[in-house]
Amino acid sequence: MSYRTIDGLDVANKRVLLRADLNVPVRDGKITDLTRIERLSPTIRELADKGAKVIVCSHFDRPKGKRVPEMSLAPMAAALAEVLGKPVAFADDCVGEMAKAAIDTMSAGDVLVLENTRFHAGEEKNDPDMAKALAANADIFVNDAFSAAHRAHASTEGVAHLIPAYAGRLMQRELEALTAALGAPVRPVLAIVGGSKVSTKLDLLGNLVGRVDMLVIGGAMANTFLAADGVSVGKSLQESEMHETAREISAKAKEAGCEIILPVDAVTATEFRANPPIKIVDISAIPDDAMMLDVGPKTVQALVGKLAGVKTVVWNGPLGAFEIAPFDAATVALAKAVAAATQAGALLSVAGGGDTVSALRHAGVSDQMSYVSSAGGAFLEWMEGKTLPGVAALSA
Ligand code: 3PG
Repeated sequence: MSYRTIDGLDVANKRVLLRADLNVPVRDGKITDLTRIERLSPTIRELADKGAKVIVCSHFDRPKGKRVPEMSLAPMAAALAEVLGKPVAFADDCVGEMAKAAIDTMSAGDVLVLENTRFHAGEEKNDPDMAKALAANADIFVNDAFSAAHRAHASTEGVAHLIPAYAGRLMQRELEALTAALGAPVRPVLAIVGGSKVSTKLDLLGNLVGRVDMLVIGGAMANTFLAADGVSVGKSLQESEMHETAREISAKAKEAGCEIILPVDAVTATEFRANPPIKIVDISAIPDDAMMLDVGPKTVQALVGKLAGVKTVVWNGPLGAFEIAPFDAATVALAKAVAAATQAGALLSVAGGGDTVSALRHAGVSDQMSYVSSAGGAFLEWMEGKTLPGVAALSA
């Protein structure tokens, strides 16, 4: 799909409504990770340098159409000012008189953050009146919120049909990286999918087996596939009701010429806690009273071997229970191998999804992949092959 970018766009003295994703992690009222704000800043700088009045709007959390003071975007406006190194004004509402008054005082190059769009019920309903109210205070719409593009909301979709709409630089980077990985990838393509439940990643697995050459299944999802194959997985987390589905996915993969790669050995324990006694066993020898909590070293070796012949890697989800030592070992080892091959120029690697980003950071390689998406749900929906409404609304 082609989409409009801000290349050559005349924004001088224009009111540019910039949809950002300021839905950043916050603990005890403090922002704990600035990645989304930092990645947004190039678009803001470019627009402001070209003389735009940059009006940033975003949701934060899920206030469900009500004003929830703890879900205000005021702290994000302050953080944005720090990142940009220039003042950022704040308006107490995203539409109506309050927003208009703040926008009317802006000069070329100024930056303003509007209050949480989800304080209005019309936002999530994609209410045409809400979209109109947002459009009323702007001349141009720029969407830089790929991570919210799976939501058809007034500020991500509705407004894009009312005023000229473009993809911002972050949106553009995400789309370019994701297209390179799954749209028209250099083959062979290997996808790594982890996570606990087959049931939440059904569409994703179904789409991937038709698109990639090899699909590595890790995490507790692997247990379901193994159990469906008749392997005894002891007390491992798995979904018995998904066995038939797992077999269908395997059959579809075979038909499409996609090799499904399951663990050949396992790191097991009888308790799920940090550093319990562990046993590393072949996949056919998981003790009845134990759980597989990570894939074993032989599996890692096999996966690293596979990487040698691969040109593109797409990664979503850890291989084991990586939050708890020592069950992070396989994910860390594979992450380092993918990073090394990426750095050597041997492959293109794209990763995304909340847990994946934490796992790569934990492995110390999040800046050594070709691209790490800042999106969670949107990345998954994109891997499922779905059209994201926020992106579709920017199509040229
Ligand atoms: C995200 O963090 O994935 C996006 O900001 C979307 O948030 P939502 O799941 O609350 O719509």
